[in-house]
Amino acid sequence: MAIDLSKQKSIVGRSPSDIEKYGFEGSGYLGKVLMSRGEKPVLGRKIFIDLTRPHLVLVCGKRGFGKSYTMAVLMEEFARLPANIRNRISIIAIDTVGIFWSLKFPNRENQKELADWDLKPAETDVRVLVPKGKIAFYKEKGLPVSGTFTLKASELDAVEWMVLFNLTWKDPEGVLITRVVEEVKEKLGSYYGIDELIKAIKNDTESTKIVRQAMINRLNVAKTWGLIEKEGTRLREIAKPGTITVIDVSAYRQAIGVEGTRDIIVALVGKKLFEERMLFRKEEEIKHLKGQKRESAMPIVWMMIDEAHMFMPRDEKNLAMQVLLEWVRVGRQPGLSLLLATQRPNKLHPDAISQCDLFISHRMTSKPDIEAVSALRPSYMHQDFDHLYAEMPKSKGYALIIDDNSEKIWMIKVRPRFSWDAGVTASAFTK
Ligand SMILES: Nc1ncnc2c1ncn2[C@@H]1O[C@H](COP(=O)(O)OP(=O)(O)O)[C@@H](O)[C@H]1O
Ligand SMILES: [Mg+2]
Repeated sequence: MAIDLSKQKSIVGRSPSDIEKYGFEGSGYLGKVLMSRGEKPVLGRKIFIDLTRPHLVLVCGKRGFGKSYTMAVLMEEFARLPANIRNRISIIAIDTVGIFWSLKFPNRENQKELADWDLKPAETDVRVLVPKGKIAFYKEKGLPVSGTFTLKASELDAVEWMVLFNLTWKDPEGVLITRVVEEVKEKLGSYYGIDELIKAIKNDTESTKIVRQAMINRLNVAKTWGLIEKEGTRLREIAKPGTITVIDVSAYRQAIGVEGTRDIIVALVGKKLFEERMLFRKEEEIKHLKGQKRESAMPIVWMMIDEAHMFMPRDEKNLAMQVLLEWVRVGRQPGLSLLLATQRPNKLHPDAISQCDLFISHRMTSKPDIEAVSALRPSYMHQDFDHLYAEMPKSKGYALIIDDNSEKIWMIKVRPRFSWDAGVTASAFTK
């Protein structure tokens, strides 16, 4: 008698003791295990992924083989968690390409593939936030924006302004902005914007006119970003319980003079979330000690970052680096999960590779990239990476999963999306 493999299932990202306690509760359907390669691959056991515990997930693979797609599948699964679990979690996805808004629409293109998997097209509720001053960019393209966000000027330290403008301590403009930020902070507290900085620069007596003008020009450019204002979006608004928030920064793609904008967004959002989660974690522990339920107003946060090598590069500096390294190294303790996707693991900070507990890799062919990830090879892995990659089917959506929690390795096919995949359309926008 043939075994019906469709009834068998496993879970990644969950320890054996958690599996015993919770079973499959709070997990998401990721895909199916590849049973036999060949012309027509045979898929078997369903693979679920734990969504309740903090994780560091690394998704890699060469361009066009399913990283963003897999991220979208995970977002769909978060959205479908039962309310009691979902409301304890908040998802924030940094969208550099401008593709995740299409989660809002059902997948009508791929109905046959969905049917083969016994699935149906469906929309997913995501909230798409865009930089306030760039709303016209999104409206022009007809993208379904749910709201806007800004960063609060006073949350940027002098160093951050300098990095944004590519300045160092040695540059006269660097000296000027440092002095002015301190002055304005002292005078106005946390309530000032770019205009107040410009005003203070105009009144500065210690700098030359040329330096003042150069700095004012730069700040005027920063005004056109439509990002940094007197009043910033509150964190409470960004990390909403039970909500998937897409921070779409694609308006800053490939434009000149905006190089640091995405970095400062990730840096400040990441920093705030980290600080707040640390505070709330304490509150939760105190409640626990008093015998109350371990609950607080702030949900556990998942931050998902596509093209993560841009924010955590291996050999370069980045405004977001320090914050992301903190998430990577100690984030799990206060309940911060991070999902990083990259096509160039070799260009990614090695800590992101060595610290991840769940590794999902689509097809990779570049030797340096395969070598970079094989450095993470845990002791329970006795196979070599080259061999595993050579065995992976060449079509899209296949992935190797290495799971530290269950100490297992799987070769899977990620399930088709319920929602529309705008990947192709969106990349045409940027041309
Ligand atoms: N699991 C999958 N099932 C079916 N098609 C997929 C799957 N993963 C990726 N694809 C196809 O491959 C294309 C590229 O995937 P994408 O995730 O955008 O690649 P990247 O790795 O560059 O982010 C998608 O637009 C989709 O057509
Ligand atoms: Mg992608």
